[in-house]
Amino acid sequence: MNPDMLTPFGLKIRMPSRREDQLPSLASVLQLVRHHRVVLIRGVDPLSRERLIHYCKGSNPHSDPFLHWDFGPVMELQASADPKNYLFSREAVPFHWDGAFHRVPSILVFNCIAEPATDSGGETLFCDTTRLWNQTPPLLRSSFSKIKLTYRTERLAHYGGEVTVPLVNKHPHDGTPVLRFAEEVKTTLNPVSLNISGVSPREAFETLDYLTTHIYQKDFCLEHQWQRGDLLFADNHALIHGRRAFLQNSPRHIRRVQLL
Ligand SMILES: [Fe+2]
Repeated sequence: MNPDMLTPFGLKIRMPSRREDQLPSLASVLQLVRHHRVVLIRGVDPLSRERLIHYCKGSNPHSDPFLHWDFGPVMELQASADPKNYLFSREAVPFHWDGAFHRVPSILVFNCIAEPATDSGGETLFCDTTRLWNQTPPLLRSSFSKIKLTYRTERLAHYGGEVTVPLVNKHPHDGTPVLRFAEEVKTTLNPVSLNISGVSPREAFETLDYLTTHIYQKDFCLEHQWQRGDLLFADNHALIHGRRAFLQNSPRHIRRVQLL
């Protein structure tokens, strides 16, 4: 194994063999995710659904560490010709954390089954919200700490409803400050509305302006271009994530499970 640091955060492990039986143990990868927030394992062939499930069960094949949805624990992320929801369209996916309307998983596991065509968009973005909080000016931090965010969306895909969360939260495993910020989704394909409460309209505007700008800045945002076989682990409590729009039709196919 050959580890490298990603920019501005995250760890990349390049595997010397494409064989999946050479993968490091799940427990060792999860240990690295706690520290680095993103761990990318590159160089192994894509896993089948069954092998991905098996690998993510770690040392206990009888365990069920997965978040389950109507369709089960495995989601196949591919653009559809007739999408009901923007996730399955060619549109950008604004920043969010997974499970806000259902149950929040700890770790997201992505496996790239088919990589996007060159220069066709579809990069996945990760923003380290702890890093962003640590560099937020004190006056804005005090606004952040008073804010509650309410999200609403119609259930047209696998999620929906209304949820209210404090903007500033604590990571449930290590207690570090994290931001539970998701962008409003302005789309005709299952929009998500955002309402800010707890501060004056001016403070709400300043907060929104600051966050929507900084989450995309290179000091806080890791942009990942998928390669076939990439196995990527992301901390869903510390990070928010999104996707750049597709610029053309793309064969991009990402398989995903979520660990509780
Ligand atoms: Fe997501």
